[in-house]
Amino acid sequence: MSVRTIQLDDSVYDYMLRVGTREPDILRRLRAETAGLGKYAYMQISPELGQFLGLMVELTGARRVIEVGTFTGYSALAMALHLPADGRIVACDISKEWTEVGRPYWREAGADDRIDLRIGPGVETLDALIAEEGAGAYDLVFIDADKDRYIDYFEKALMLLRTGGLIAIDNVLWSGRVVDETDQEAGTVAIRAFNDHVAKDERVTLSLVPIGDGLTLARKR
Ligand SMILES: C[S@@+](CC[C@H](N)C(=O)[O-])C[C@H]1O[C@@H](n2cnc3c(N)ncnc32)[C@H](O)[C@@H]1O
Repeated sequence: MSVRTIQLDDSVYDYMLRVGTREPDILRRLRAETAGLGKYAYMQISPELGQFLGLMVELTGARRVIEVGTFTGYSALAMALHLPADGRIVACDISKEWTEVGRPYWREAGADDRIDLRIGPGVETLDALIAEEGAGAYDLVFIDADKDRYIDYFEKALMLLRTGGLIAIDNVLWSGRVVDETDQEAGTVAIRAFNDHVAKDERVTLSLVPIGDGLTLARKR
């Protein structure tokens, strides 16, 4: 019995990974290569979040997905593996260098034809999709890029989604820094502003899930 979400110490976290997380070998190898990038490796999502996103793809019956913030391609591949054969992910990032790390893995998994990588500022890519395809053409949007643009990404994602579509937004607990009012670092301030922006937004049904660094799920009404 529990009246609140439990805290995970290392042993409970390891247990959760052992009995609850089935990370495919190809994703495990991509994670290992990303770890070799050193100080930037922390940007990658966790295996349990990758699996959760795959489940979200299945639960929403998604065929058309957008990801803002691809890095070395772990989350894009984690979602692509759960798409139907005619499904597509538009993967947005500004870094050609980092996304190139993922490409061989996408190819090996037979998923590269399902991942449409667009290099450029995420806001511009989303605006181009709105201009090309209009509103309501997508089923799921995963937001995991520059935090100061989160509100813009959310608003554009709402436009691009069909009714009943899902937005998943990563890092909303920001390692717990959101509750430390003395922390005025730009990312922390931006995440707080984003969380306040969606907290009472009646256009969506909301749940903040304490997985990874905190993931907000917002279903378009
Ligand atoms: C936290 S990482 C994404 C991690 C990724 N989802 C994964 O599978 O682990 C954030 C990414 O956002 C990208 N990014 C930063 N600013 C951006 C922008 N303005 N437009 C698009 N991508 C951006 C960075 O290059 C970086 O790869």
